[in-house]
Amino acid sequence: MSHSVPPQRDPSTLRSARWFAPDDQRSFGHRSRLKQMGFGEADFQARPCIGILNTWSDMNNCHTHFRDRAEEVKRGVWQAGGFPVEIPVMSMSESFMKPTSMYYRNLLALEVEETMRCYPLDGVVLMGGCDKTVPALIMGTTSANLPSIFMPAGPMLKGCWRGEALGSGTDMWRYWAERQAGNLCEEGWHELEDGIARSPGHCMTMGTASTMTALAETLGLCLPGSTSIPAVHSTHARMAAACGRRIVDLVWKNLTPRKLLTEDAFHNAIVADMALGGSTNAIIHLIAMAGRAGIRLTLEQFDDLSQKVEVLANIRPCGEYLMEDFYDAGGLRALLLRVKDQLRLHCLTVSGRTLGENIEGAEVYHEDVIRPLDRPVSAAGGTFVLRGNLAPDGAVMKPTAAEPHLLRHRGPAAVFSDYTDLKKRIHDPSLALTPDHIIVLQHAGPIGAPGIPEWGMLPIPDYLLKQGIRDMLRISDARMSGTSYGACVLHVAPESAIGGPLALVRDGDEIEVDVSRRLLHLHVSDEELAARRSQWKPRETRYRRGYAQLYEQQITQAPEGCDFRFLHHGPDLPEPDIY
Ligand code: FES
Repeated sequence: MSHSVPPQRDPSTLRSARWFAPDDQRSFGHRSRLKQMGFGEADFQARPCIGILNTWSDMNNCHTHFRDRAEEVKRGVWQAGGFPVEIPVMSMSESFMKPTSMYYRNLLALEVEETMRCYPLDGVVLMGGCDKTVPALIMGTTSANLPSIFMPAGPMLKGCWRGEALGSGTDMWRYWAERQAGNLCEEGWHELEDGIARSPGHCMTMGTASTMTALAETLGLCLPGSTSIPAVHSTHARMAAACGRRIVDLVWKNLTPRKLLTEDAFHNAIVADMALGGSTNAIIHLIAMAGRAGIRLTLEQFDDLSQKVEVLANIRPCGEYLMEDFYDAGGLRALLLRVKDQLRLHCLTVSGRTLGENIEGAEVYHEDVIRPLDRPVSAAGGTFVLRGNLAPDGAVMKPTAAEPHLLRHRGPAAVFSDYTDLKKRIHDPSLALTPDHIIVLQHAGPIGAPGIPEWGMLPIPDYLLKQGIRDMLRISDARMSGTSYGACVLHVAPESAIGGPLALVRDGDEIEVDVSRRLLHLHVSDEELAARRSQWKPRETRYRRGYAQLYEQQITQAPEGCDFRFLHHGPDLPEPDIY
């Protein structure tokens, strides 16, 4: 099947020509202002105007190399006959934004869409990598639907402490538990702080950033193999220039994101997610991204593929290695080749070739990092969907990151009404929690927290840590960092803040989790639950103006992707008038 799109090389067909070509007073203004910046007619006339949407800032630790990369992208754009313009967009840092960067994902998506609409751009290079920047940039560009290519930040180098490789997030959580248990001194803890993040690039575990960039590549939005390249490799700089060259061609071919983002492409992304043992966050983001393309993904599609696709990437937190090892072992192309029987290989990508053609010839160079099908990290895929009277609209769990004995468990609930309550009481020995208890956190969802933050790896009481306990069943309507681990049931929907059953759980109620049956059940009678519901009242909103109010009014629940209702796919907006 051929996907070739007839090239148009007629400069009058460029979108930017509406700004720069006419012989009128308004275009005079546009041209004279470009000349004010030192550009001549030869720089911009009859050339595709390429926006380089850069999420760099001094607050984004994962994108510190983006100033250099933007210059390299520009070099590629010039080489291919385009006119590059760098435009900063909201710089979302997973580390520093509070209450959570997720709260602002849709704001960046909106900014990207409107930036693309209002400026004379023919195509864009999207520069992102740190967690929410990836779905946000893709959601925005899918709505704007101009030719786009995603330039991934790439993972940082491995951390190191006393000769041991350290993984972002994952090893911080692990050693924090050891410190709480009294097994790690202050000096060791500070050395870890110095050694865990030691180069530009995003988290180098299979956290949300590594997952989402890999899924962006699988969807066809990145150059083949680009997302596995460590941020500081010289290959990464060359890849950036190649993105610049390629986007010019995509403009002439008018290859827009919605031509790539088909149902089959999202199927492929879910397959990749499962084979990677990807972050649970990918479910919410993929649903939201697909929604912008007018495609409805369901939780069942994820669960269905989780039963058909093995986890092959032996990367922390599910496995042992880190992204640098993954790259050296052959990277995403090699992994996708291993699961090619599950993929819809005909899907077109920004390379101009199909996904199948992109992965042809890939090789695995380290069989323990990218496992063969007969020796997977886990025989089932990375993320399961649970349902029951406690989560009628679903909840998710990453069983590969949990201690196996907790995958089938029944125990009494210990309920915390919000995170402040949890912080205040979780280590109080008078609660007398046991390893059999199930820790329940309410008001941590999209509206309740707000922003569905990554609180889902709820802390284990330190008196249990000292007894050697390292995992317990934990249930919340929060998310969990892709770098986290543990028997954590997440994204419980509907959330407690809008009266979901999670709001009705009380201390001592028996809860049953049976992952093999995908069950999440609260052993309380329907009559008792109805009585509790009749007494339940929502908390009064704290948000009466501004973005917070817009967020609260427009946000959807986790199984719908937590997008804003007014940003869902709909009729295309008209081009702006130029008067
Ligand atoms: Fe940016 Fe983890 S902090 S990806």
